[in-house]
Amino acid sequence: MFKIVKYPDPILRKKALPVKEFGQQLADLVQEMGKLMYADDGVGLAAPQIGVRSSILIIGLGQGKFKAYINPEITFSSKDQATMEEGCLSLPGIFGYVSRPKKIHIKYQDLAGKVQKEKLKGFDAVIFQHEMDHLQGILFIDRTDKISKGQAELEKLKAKLNDKLKN
Ligand code: CO
Repeated sequence: MFKIVKYPDPILRKKALPVKEFGQQLADLVQEMGKLMYADDGVGLAAPQIGVRSSILIIGLGQGKFKAYINPEITFSSKDQATMEEGCLSLPGIFGYVSRPKKIHIKYQDLAGKVQKEKLKGFDAVIFQHEMDHLQGILFIDRTDKISKGQAELEKLKAKLNDKLKN
């Protein structure tokens, strides 16, 4: 059974590997991601967050629906930036402000392996970039200008990580 992996689990710091096989197993995995994301009221999720080191992310469309992006890439980022408060299912209770490009163009494969392109802006662009970061082992706490909630909790987690690294 899969579950949401929480910081400081080391898988969250690893780069995801490309998906090469498109079939039922991939479709099932994506369904599982959707279930876990909605169970925790998330708006997006990346495969490393369920302990799977594959280049897959999903974005919620509301009412239990979501869209899967396989082997996603950002092909264009606007110079224009916007700042939003972000959170993460792998860092419960912690929020912070992150500045990111307002508009992006993306390329990805769908569940059938077909290459697709899309332009994203607003909240969708923010979620996509946040999940894209997960595939590179980057977390929003690496990019935040200011933690808005959960600073004490984050420090506790970081201390826990440092203890682990020492032992
Ligand atoms: Co996240």
